[in-house]
Amino acid sequence: MQKLIHMSTRLLRVSAVAAAIALSLLSAGVWAHSGASGIIKERMEAMKSMGAAMKATGAMISGKQAYDAEKIREAARAIGKHASETVELFPDTEESRNLHISEAAPAIWEKKDDFTALALELAKTSEQLAQNAGSEDKKLVIENFKAVGGACKTCHERFRIKKD
Ligand code: HEC
Repeated sequence: MQKLIHMSTRLLRVSAVAAAIALSLLSAGVWAHSGASGIIKERMEAMKSMGAAMKATGAMISGKQAYDAEKIREAARAIGKHASETVELFPDTEESRNLHISEAAPAIWEKKDDFTALALELAKTSEQLAQNAGSEDKKLVIENFKAVGGACKTCHERFRIKKD
């Protein structure tokens, strides 16, 4: 019994971390949307929809919403689809590199292989989450979710110049 209580507090703590990750990914930089059009707008929309998918998943994983494996699978696959389209959404053009309306760092085009690798990492981790969404092992699901959040975060740290 003692052990069970201990385990569930631990799971709760991990879930709080999961929820925090989801929330930290949501900040969309409201400033950026005024004036965004074309390819920049398109990728912002794609990123925002991944943010929404992470939020919905985080809510289910942390227990704020009922756990629904099917919904988590759908959200993870939607993220995976965006992930596989990410690189195309950052063409090396003047329009795309417009730092007045975009937060895309020039490093995206200087270190294109690294940028591509992180998009692949997101595709891979989100597919793992999709595959394990129905698992009894909730710790595994949380780990998978954290790995997805980690891929978002690493790319933002390296390739996004955050303005507020
Ligand atoms: C391969 C790199 C990369 C990955 C992976 C990535 N992002 Fe991004 N994200 C960016 C870049 C670069 C921008 C800035 C784009 C711009 O302003 O033109 C951005 C912007 C955003 C924005 C702000 C969009 C807006 O409206 O201004 C949100 C929200 C976001 N990402 C969420 C996510 C989430 C959630 C994930 C993971 C599920 C994720 N991103 C994964 C590179 C990435």
